[in-house]
Amino acid sequence: MILLGIETSCDDTATAVVRDGRYVLSNVSTNQDAFHAKYGGIVPEIASRRHVALLSAAVDDALGRAALSLGEIDGIAVTAGPGLIGSLVVGVAAAKALAFAAHKPLYAVNHLHGHIFAAFLDTDREPAYPFLTLLVSGGHTQLVDVASPTELTVIGKTRDDAAGEAFDKTARLLDLPFPGGPALEALAREGNPRAIAFPRYTPGAGALDLSFSGLKTSVRTFLENDAGATARADVAASFQAAVVDVLIDRVSRALDARDYGTIVLSGGVAANTALADAFRALGAKRGVDALVPERRFCTDNAAMIAAAAERRGAAARADAFALTANPNLPFSVSGS
Ligand code: KG4
Ligand code: ZN
Repeated sequence: MILLGIETSCDDTATAVVRDGRYVLSNVSTNQDAFHAKYGGIVPEIASRRHVALLSAAVDDALGRAALSLGEIDGIAVTAGPGLIGSLVVGVAAAKALAFAAHKPLYAVNHLHGHIFAAFLDTDREPAYPFLTLLVSGGHTQLVDVASPTELTVIGKTRDDAAGEAFDKTARLLDLPFPGGPALEALAREGNPRAIAFPRYTPGAGALDLSFSGLKTSVRTFLENDAGATARADVAASFQAAVVDVLIDRVSRALDARDYGTIVLSGGVAANTALADAFRALGAKRGVDALVPERRFCTDNAAMIAAAAERRGAAARADAFALTANPNLPFSVSGS
């Protein structure tokens, strides 16, 4: 199938055309950072309004770059949740209207399923089930057992902050510009990851849950009381090392519990080089394939939404009349 993907769950207005859940014919994303930067975070009302302003042109752009008309595609895939309600509504309304007007099937996709199948975009690899995904984004941090495209089970998750949220909040403490993750990574590159021994959350043997709020508090306390002449780059590098250690330890535990041939990294934080390198190193050490998506497919994009719709097939089909955006869409469902 050739699917038009639409993703507006947060602050990226993204559209794409993808063939067979794999070949990316176009992938368009308009980043709204400039509109949110002065507030130091995403302002939901601004995000929704920008989607309204940008989405029609973004759909035309994705189709144009793929050299296809709306009539030539086989269906429309849209993120139905989770995410910001106002943002989701814009994408869902547009997708319903397009599906209805062009008489095309509509597919509703869970944003997190999109991240998981991003790893197979523009590669020659087919997913080898079961595989294990470490999904690390701004809103979520979880380990997912993927037994098949329709059997996805969260086997471990954060008790508090998501990894991306921890990066963003710590970046603020370090007076770094928004968005914090990439800025913190750039600063960390100049620092010593062993300069400060920040805490690593370690649950009981075998447990797969994660936590980052204690780490963030510990960075704040350090900056307020003990930083002295410590270079900010050393704080950034030491914080990043602690996040990476916790994430890699939980993947390692999941590998102890079940035989996986493949581990997949996904979500915006997968764009972090230190994490991606540690993830690949773990794969090599444990003798499993470690997949890290191309950077442009790590952060929010619409190609991953089309990919997840294709792979989930009938399980993602939605009714163009009835589909509603669901900001709290449970992980186990696609849309509806
Ligand atoms: O998946 P994503 O684009 O949006 C969500 O669904 O949340 O992830 C965004 C998150 C943000 O918290 C951002 O700071 C983080 O991914 N991020 C990074 C890097 N690039 C993006 N975190 C650490 N290092 C990076 N290079
Ligand atoms: Zn995301």
